[in-house]
Amino acid sequence: MSLRALERQFLFQVYPRQPLVLVRGRGPYVWDDRGRKYLDFFSGLAVCSLGHTPARVTRAIFRQAKQLWHTSNLYYTIPQIRLAQALIAKTFPGRVFFSNSGAEANECALKLVRRWGQPATGDWKGGSTQTRSEVITFHRSFHGRTLGTLSATGQIKFQRGFHPLLPGFRYARLNDVASVEQVMTPQTCAILVEPIQGEGGVVPATPEFLQALRRLADRHRLLLIFDEIQTGVGRTGTFYAFQQLGVKPDIVTLAKGLGGGLPIGATVATPAVADLFGIGDHASTFGGNPVVCAGALEVLRTLTPAFLARVRKMGQRLLTELQKLPAEFPVIREIRGRGLMLGLELTIEGTPLVDACRARGLLINCVQERVLRLLPPLTIGEPEIRAAVQILRDAFAIMGP
Ligand SMILES: Cc1ncc(COP(=O)(O)O)c(C=O)c1O
Repeated sequence: MSLRALERQFLFQVYPRQPLVLVRGRGPYVWDDRGRKYLDFFSGLAVCSLGHTPARVTRAIFRQAKQLWHTSNLYYTIPQIRLAQALIAKTFPGRVFFSNSGAEANECALKLVRRWGQPATGDWKGGSTQTRSEVITFHRSFHGRTLGTLSATGQIKFQRGFHPLLPGFRYARLNDVASVEQVMTPQTCAILVEPIQGEGGVVPATPEFLQALRRLADRHRLLLIFDEIQTGVGRTGTFYAFQQLGVKPDIVTLAKGLGGGLPIGATVATPAVADLFGIGDHASTFGGNPVVCAGALEVLRTLTPAFLARVRKMGQRLLTELQKLPAEFPVIREIRGRGLMLGLELTIEGTPLVDACRARGLLINCVQERVLRLLPPLTIGEPEIRAAVQILRDAFAIMGP
């Protein structure tokens, strides 16, 4: 039986898989089971931040795998604590909770919101005088697939058929402060936002908008939460996207690129917010696993200021090359994004272009039907950028006018 037939028989049919069996990866390239090589401008959905099987991280994982794999969080382990220390050094003074995915990182943030919404007279020194629990999120946002994060996600297409959802989410329009004020009620307790909506079509929130959210949050004692699961860990050219935007959240969530390919989620909060949880209030069996943390620590060590400056430079190179395309192919309506997270909005469906690129050895993806999303490894170089843009050009050329 073919691998595709086996997959159909034995796995939940939930993924629209590309017709590729990938068996090997090295740097910005992956190979399929027929030996064909692909330039990977998708990075396993913004995860393989240092490319595939980076030597430093591989060594760190091996070293730890020979020592200790798993202990549970009922014991102290060295990689977890070292990783938390390294992560806080790149964030703001605070504390970290480690989990295994982006959705879990956001769930932890949503539980902190519940505590923040308790009256300050109780056990928890939250920001409320009466119980509050509503969270403002945004249309076209994406925060995960658990029931809580699905409820936070402002896209009906993901929620259809899964009602009743968790109550207490109100959706506003990105970059529209008035729409945020409109959905605010005395019950509002937090605002959750992606600095750049990834799944929603690579749509950046403006610095002015995020700064206005900070002011609103301060005025009404709301928690401001940035979901940097896709934008974080250097993707936009700084460790966090918010570091270019002149605004600081109370909680920031990470996953994807943090493990460089290993499953990890992290919720970082200011000490006052983190301390809303006491012993036993939140937990994860696998979160902060020593092998995963040893790998993630090596990812963080790689993300030096010089490395991030290079990400910004390569992001600019890629943008400059892409900006030559709309003159040749008017189906490209807009190019947007930051650093190495770029989107091309088209006037036509994007899937045929994804297929044409793949046939020519380039992996990209398409979101919101008409936005091609480019997420190369942060280690990408100029020759690969030139090669990828040439493949895109060839793919557009066969689409016709
Ligand atoms: C911004 C954002 N938040 C949350 C998630 C969910 O992450 P995970 O799939 O690891 O649960 C994603 C995944 O694409 C994401 O892009």
